[in-house]
Amino acid sequence: MQQVKMLWGALWVLALSWTGSCTKTVDGAHACNALAAALPGLVTFPNSSLFATENTYWSLRQEAVTPDCFVAPKTTGDVAKAVKLLTSLPSPFTVKGGGHTAFAGASNIENGVTIDMFHLNQITVAVDRKTVSVGPGARWINVSTALDPLGLAVVGGRDPNVGVSGLTLGGGISFFSGIHGLVCDNVRRYEVVLASGKMVEASPTANANLYWALRGGTGSNFGIVTRFDLASFEQGDLWSAELIYPGALNATLIPLFQNLTVNGLPADPQAHTYFVQTYIPALGGYIVLTDQYRATPLPGAAVPPVFQPLHAVPALITQQKVANVSTTSRGIEEAYGERHTWWNTAVSAASAQLLVDLVPLYEAHVQRLLAAANGTAITPFFIFQPLPVNVLRAMQANGGNALGLYPADGPLVIVQLAVTWENAAIDSAVEASCQKLIGQVKALAASRKLDRGFIYVNYAGKSQDVFRGYGAANLARLKRVAKTVDPQGLLQRLWKGYFKLDSPSW
Ligand SMILES: Cc1cc2nc3c(=O)[nH]c(=O)nc-3n(C[C@H](O)[C@H](O)[C@H](O)COP(=O)(O)OP(=O)(O)OC[C@H]3O[C@@H](n4cnc5c(N)ncnc54)[C@H](O)[C@@H]3O)c2cc1C
Ligand SMILES: *[C@@H]1O[C@H](CO)[C@@H](O)[C@H](O)[C@H]1NC(C)=O
Ligand SMILES: *[C@@H]1O[C@H](CO)[C@@H](O)[C@H](O)[C@H]1NC(C)=O
Ligand SMILES: *[C@@H]1O[C@H](CO)[C@@H](O)[C@H](O)[C@H]1NC(C)=O
Ligand SMILES: *[C@@H]1O[C@H](CO)[C@@H](O)[C@H](O)[C@H]1NC(C)=O
Ligand SMILES: *[C@@H]1O[C@H](CO)[C@@H](O)[C@H](O)[C@H]1NC(C)=O
Ligand SMILES: *[C@@H]1O[C@H](CO)[C@@H](O)[C@H](O)[C@H]1NC(C)=O
Repeated sequence: MQQVKMLWGALWVLALSWTGSCTKTVDGAHACNALAAALPGLVTFPNSSLFATENTYWSLRQEAVTPDCFVAPKTTGDVAKAVKLLTSLPSPFTVKGGGHTAFAGASNIENGVTIDMFHLNQITVAVDRKTVSVGPGARWINVSTALDPLGLAVVGGRDPNVGVSGLTLGGGISFFSGIHGLVCDNVRRYEVVLASGKMVEASPTANANLYWALRGGTGSNFGIVTRFDLASFEQGDLWSAELIYPGALNATLIPLFQNLTVNGLPADPQAHTYFVQTYIPALGGYIVLTDQYRATPLPGAAVPPVFQPLHAVPALITQQKVANVSTTSRGIEEAYGERHTWWNTAVSAASAQLLVDLVPLYEAHVQRLLAAANGTAITPFFIFQPLPVNVLRAMQANGGNALGLYPADGPLVIVQLAVTWENAAIDSAVEASCQKLIGQVKALAASRKLDRGFIYVNYAGKSQDVFRGYGAANLARLKRVAKTVDPQGLLQRLWKGYFKLDSPSW
């Protein structure tokens, strides 16, 4: 009898350890029925008219993915119920914030459940005006239209429709980053639902390691954020300008942009900019575009001195305005309804020559893409986003974030590829061309000791090894934090579709 008990005990232990590593998952259809029973009225099946609304994503590649159902929690308690159910079944799922990731399956899932945060869109300003609590389903335009009338702003996303969640969890480059750092550096507190369904807060004084990890470590490794408490500040209208030049001027303009990154932006932290090369037949082919911002306009809306060298070069089109945050944001809205991919790598900003020498590599990429598209619509972007030292300095606030970028390493430029196209048949040709160009950018930079190894997660391609770029120590720390909040690695295994600390298994 005793022996039989022991045998059963041993088998039970075996079964448990097997469960921990490779349990069979329950399929999405069953999970949806269980969720519908547990959370009545919050689950949407494909036969409902709301389904198409929930299955609207910025990139058509994400929209082509169809989950078995959406579950849209209305409270943190609902999120906890949904997560607990999904991790205990267990059943694969993903989470949709603003749905702006370019690649398929980043925040939508085939054969599984998509948790759609859209109901959780509250925006609450604290009495002292120093903190704004924002729900994970809010878009940045919701935040700015709420704050503009109050003369307040937060360090937030630039495009109006992008989600507060994904952008903030990956870092977040803002109009106001020159003064305050990334969006994640200005989160005072997160409310998070962990894999177990337990709700915790993370701040510099509560769960400080999780607080650090959520600043760049992305949500899908740690938990579902149900509230972001963002630091707010007094803000009126901003100055902004957009200049468009012929591409032939690239060798004149790039050194001005590089000097701006190294010298101009640190000298005027209120200033913010990025630099775009693209190919638009209606504008004569290759063009260069720069968008420029200053948090406080100068008297008479004068061009800020840092931007004057660029304004001295004759442009095809020059536009300037002084406007509130929501209007400024709407001015750079990027439409829905196309196919997209984004890739990036960071290089040192020390050399204008490196940036100039990347242009022919970009031109070859454009020729490959035009050949593949064979007359169907395609727009290839080659974008430089500066991370000047003042931004790197501001990123060290609150114990620093997880990105592994430090002022002592000097300013850098995120070299970003974005392609927008029409024909699904060329998806893999577009990805291959981007992968090739990113490899060439890294190789040329490395040959001059200017490769920085950093990949910005919010602009990363699906196959890019984002977390290795944070440095070995930060990656190890992120894994330790994940192990603490999710000892069984349930999120690594069940939350499909984004960058994982463990090798990508999806
Ligand atoms: C037009 C456009 C403009 C952009 N502008 C900027 C910019 O100015 N600055 C910048 O830094 N980036 C910018 N980005 C990049 C942007 O930060 C990323 O695409 C970001 O992931 C979008 O967030 P989302 O919530 O809309 O995306 P989603 O695709 O919904 O989510 C991205 C990831 O976050 C996870 N997630 C979503 N909600 C939660 C949650 N509540 N808790 C935990 N995890 C969650 C998702 O599962 C997914 O893994 C822009 C992107 C686009 C398409
Ligand atoms: C929609 O589909 C779900 C799941 O299959 C089912 O339970 C529900 O009854 C359907 N509703 C309608 C109106 O057909
Ligand atoms: C923001 O600017 C727009 C355009 O000028 C205007 O319509 C809107 O009322 C402004 N919002 C606030 C709160 O001032
Ligand atoms: C938030 O902004 C989106 C646009 O991206 C809009 O569709 C939605 O209605 C807004 N939500 C609220 C509550 O105003
Ligand atoms: C970049 O500038 C060089 C030198 O003016 C020119 O030959 C080349 O065509 C330009 N490239 C693009 C993409 O505009
Ligand atoms: C470089 O930037 C500094 C600071 O803005 C400016 O004083 C200087 O004139 C710039 N040099 C060039 C060549 O544009
Ligand atoms: C390119 O498009 C043309 C006309 O639109 C078509 O005749 C041709 O077959 C296409 N070529 C390829 C390689 O698809």
